[in-house]
Amino acid sequence: MPTLAKRRPAVPTGEPSLDALEARLDRARIPRHVAVIMDGNGRWAKSRGLPRLMGHRAGAESVREIVRAAGELGIGTLTLYAFSTENWQRSPLEVQGLMRLLVHTLRKESQELHKNGVRLHAVGRTDGLPAPVRKELERTIEFLSANRGLHLNLALNYGGRQEIVDAARAVARAGESITEESIARHLYTAHSPDPDLVVRTSGEFRLSNFLLWQSAYAEIHVTPTFWPDFRRRELVLALLDYQRRERRFGAA
Ligand code: FPP
Repeated sequence: MPTLAKRRPAVPTGEPSLDALEARLDRARIPRHVAVIMDGNGRWAKSRGLPRLMGHRAGAESVREIVRAAGELGIGTLTLYAFSTENWQRSPLEVQGLMRLLVHTLRKESQELHKNGVRLHAVGRTDGLPAPVRKELERTIEFLSANRGLHLNLALNYGGRQEIVDAARAVARAGESITEESIARHLYTAHSPDPDLVVRTSGEFRLSNFLLWQSAYAEIHVTPTFWPDFRRRELVLALLDYQRRERRFGAA
């Protein structure tokens, strides 16, 4: 653990402007990869007396803002946990609503993503997704494939343990020996560096089967803010928190 004396001062309370917060960022130490567990859509909706799907719709607005902000702030890769292998246990109405929202958002945002130079990747057992979602994903991934800006990984039908099993099977099929490198080469995120920072919204201190292998040395930032309220300012606060950490990767 870093000593308190080595830590930079915390962000003072009060309400500094977004510009003032961004001015505090050390641009040379922006994390290369930020991964986000977007939690709290349901509670956000409930607290307003709205149906859960309205929370997901508001969450899609946060996705839009955070993708844009991540690119502008110089983050190289952003991974968003959009649908886990456990999420199929939700009501059919909610699952269907989430799938429709995904298709709708991909259609609606593809031009804007293109303008911002974003590349898209789907990570997870995507062959288990409904056909219209697979089709829209394939279309959007292809449409954005020549871009050179932010890598956006959407984790869909994603489970960290399943990913490790799939990688181990792929290593065996390829007749390779089992090493950390060979497993990492067959993960769904093989095209991305490991996350430097994992953010979880809505206050739970859990990884929930997200990027289990890749997060071995990630810093974790938990905020009580529900995902639909997590906007650029919250992302900047997460980056400032990250920049106060001293990363030692197990060394003394
Ligand atoms: C968790 O909140 C959120 C999800 C399971 C889905 C995330 C989906 C979105 C943000 C919307 C669309 C996404 C894209 C990529 C367009 P929760 O429902 O578990 O909240 P709760 O814990 O308060 O019930």
